[in-house]
Amino acid sequence: MKTMLRYSAAVGLLLVAFVAQADYLQTQNLFSATPPAEADTVVVLVPLSTDSSPAAPAVGSAETVAQFQRAVEAQAFTGALGEQFEVLAPAGMNAKRLIALGVGDGAALQRADAESVGAALALHLATRPSSTVAVNTGLLPQNDSHSALVAAVAHGADLANYRFDRYKSAPEPRPAQTYHWLVSDPQAAEARYAQLRALAEGVFTARELTNLPGSDGYPAAFADHVRQRLEPLGITITVLTPKQILQEGMEALYGVSRGSQHGSHLLIAQWRGSKDAPIALVGKGITFDSGGYNLKLDAESLLAMTGDKAGAAAVAGTLEALARQRAPVNVVGIMPLSQNAVSGTAQLPGDVVTSASGITIEIANTDAEGRLVLADGIWYAREKFKPRVIADIATLTGSKVRALGRDYAAVFSTDDALVDSVTQAGELTRERVWRLPLGPYEKIIESTVADIRNTGSPGAQAGAVFLQQFAGDTPWVHVDMAGNGRYDATSKPPLTGATGYGVRLLTEWVTLYANSTAE
Ligand code: BES
Ligand code: MN
Ligand code: ZN
Repeated sequence: MKTMLRYSAAVGLLLVAFVAQADYLQTQNLFSATPPAEADTVVVLVPLSTDSSPAAPAVGSAETVAQFQRAVEAQAFTGALGEQFEVLAPAGMNAKRLIALGVGDGAALQRADAESVGAALALHLATRPSSTVAVNTGLLPQNDSHSALVAAVAHGADLANYRFDRYKSAPEPRPAQTYHWLVSDPQAAEARYAQLRALAEGVFTARELTNLPGSDGYPAAFADHVRQRLEPLGITITVLTPKQILQEGMEALYGVSRGSQHGSHLLIAQWRGSKDAPIALVGKGITFDSGGYNLKLDAESLLAMTGDKAGAAAVAGTLEALARQRAPVNVVGIMPLSQNAVSGTAQLPGDVVTSASGITIEIANTDAEGRLVLADGIWYAREKFKPRVIADIATLTGSKVRALGRDYAAVFSTDDALVDSVTQAGELTRERVWRLPLGPYEKIIESTVADIRNTGSPGAQAGAVFLQQFAGDTPWVHVDMAGNGRYDATSKPPLTGATGYGVRLLTEWVTLYANSTAE
């Protein structure tokens, strides 16, 4: 289906239909206690061994095992995490190829490491395709987490098999192998995999939305894509038009799109998996950030700003993942969408806007637009949903990138427990966060003409204390994910474009938070 469709501007409608049914993966994952009758490739997951050579896997007869051992020795293979080799399958094994994959210290194996093992396998098989792959997991410790770890390996492979190929006239075939995961408790592994598959689908949605070029992912189009993908899952979608945004008094959100033919939209998605007060997620959706009159002057930075909708994309993906998991949580996603363009109608440096909360804002710099749309997004969440907590996520500041690079996002909150839960979710998923302080920075956004201004120094703190004004007394946490949303310029296909950062972090966090605060 997918390869038959070619994109063209004339088939916009068809494109929407195609997004709705996008099947990002063509691989299959089966979990069983016995090996398939035939497999093209056998993979053995090998932990670091305490004795001189890794323990013998149950790969066949004594003779086959001996041959495997000789291969291990010939390759000087230790089983360190990420180590791998491929050889011709030993005689007696009903397969053509044998791959050994190191998983490091088996007893200490974490979910994120297991995922990286899966990614390594998928990348290996992408260059040397295989039709049926039997994965022997018998050398991993057979403890309580065994099934979950095998599911995590499969999840890691899934995440590495996404391709952004909708603009290729002749896309390369996507990986299409069938994996047979050999486990002692297939039902447990499969159940865990189903949860992770739901999560992966959310990640793919976030990547796809973030990757959309500015001219195709404009506010109304972004909202349409999300509606097509989320509504069939039982998520309620509401979209406010520019006119409705003004009627609600959301001038800060409205103003960012004033220079664009594509007016601001407010996209609201709700998954009601429980009757509790909602958890609100607010994501920055700047569908393209030119900087406005404070135009971005560096070509590379400007080009990267198609990805300035990654916060909103992460929120959409999180809602999708939770809905697909049928998670027993009430979550509302608020996605303020604008295009920050330059024209005769664009807002000007020095303009003052009144946000829906009543706080007046001096626009000292039109390039500090994310906090403007989020100000009204956070207000809307509080006003209309009375949430028990608000988390916002945004590609907000260059200052954050300079401070933490892309290995960590920055997290801000006055609520220590909230920071702890986000940090814990970050460690689990390895979408890590590092706390930066809000105080004593409250005064850096003081304005001489309005209540506050949209700039200040240090930059990441200025963005955070600005947003804090709009959260009021609702527990609130801010995640500045600038730099985390895209693979950097040096990374090579298939690891290019959007990462989908935030979906795994927020999905895990919502679950943790809902459990920790359950009545
Ligand atoms: N979207 C940018 C921040 C950004 C920078 C995201 C690099 C990802 C990578 C944001 O809208 C922006 O332009 N921020 C400015 C604000 C400044 C003008 C006060 C910044 O941080 O430089
Ligand atoms: Mn900007
Ligand atoms: Zn921006």
